[in-house]
Amino acid sequence: MTKTIVLGGSNSHSLARKIANKLKAKYGVLITDRFPDGELYLRLPFSVKGKKVILIESMHPNPDRILIETIFASRTCKELGAKEVVLVAPYLAYLRQDKRFHPRECWSNRIMAALVTCADKMVVVDPHIQRIKNLHEIFNMPAKKISANSVLGDYIKKNVKNPLILGPDWESFQWAEKIAEKIKVESTVLRKKRYTSRSVRIKLKGDIAIKGRNVVIIDDIISSGHTMIEVVKQAKKKKAKSITCLAVHGIFSERAYSKIKKAGATKIITTNTIENKTSKLDVSGVITKSLT
Ligand code: R5P
Repeated sequence: MTKTIVLGGSNSHSLARKIANKLKAKYGVLITDRFPDGELYLRLPFSVKGKKVILIESMHPNPDRILIETIFASRTCKELGAKEVVLVAPYLAYLRQDKRFHPRECWSNRIMAALVTCADKMVVVDPHIQRIKNLHEIFNMPAKKISANSVLGDYIKKNVKNPLILGPDWESFQWAEKIAEKIKVESTVLRKKRYTSRSVRIKLKGDIAIKGRNVVIIDDIISSGHTMIEVVKQAKKKKAKSITCLAVHGIFSERAYSKIKKAGATKIITTNTIENKTSKLDVSGVITKSLT
């Protein structure tokens, strides 16, 4: 009799199925609907009594709706006798507001963390944590941070000849520099100043030789796309041979994909933490490894 069940949340059916196959676990998806007044209706696909439930919930698109779905689903599993509920967030939303930047603002990451602490354990792929060292500082349950770096690194190794890796800002060293070290290629981390959520400026150090190089820009998230756009424009101005934009989480708000392409990107590739047309890189392997 199967002891582990993998449940796919609304944004994560295909990733959840892949994880279930790798774990040889029973797979199902949450049954959801809307009541006439817009409230969420949720039902589990089968009994979870006595089982270990792995709930896969990527929180984009519709982060607010998925947050409620995550809370309802984990609590329902617990109420209906699941032995353990492991919440896997391939993309965990609300992490970037990690302090009160202006008076009276909501400190969203702490409140989100308190709300999802109805599971027993959590696994998050490349969480955007900047001012804290690890997830235990905001989660009141064991929370493991895992990385898609090996997946991004493999892509570069197989597809980009003699790459020059650029990280758009100091925080991107966790992806850009770490990956470059691993696959033994050149990298530089740039300096970024963000003025608003839609306005950033990036400084390219004068001494980086970009002309004729295959540039790979690596970041954790592409959201409005302005970070990528700025680096792409500068790499183009300096006559890069090709410009690949690589990120773990592809949000692409406000037509970011076409804006980055228009700026001069040759390719835009992301992982399937968020499923869309760029999510060619599969993180089911790294997630499964963290669960066994
Ligand atoms: C910021 O610190 C992150 O690492 C990303 O650079 C940022 O979230 C990207 O956002 P956007 O696409 O809106 O510039």
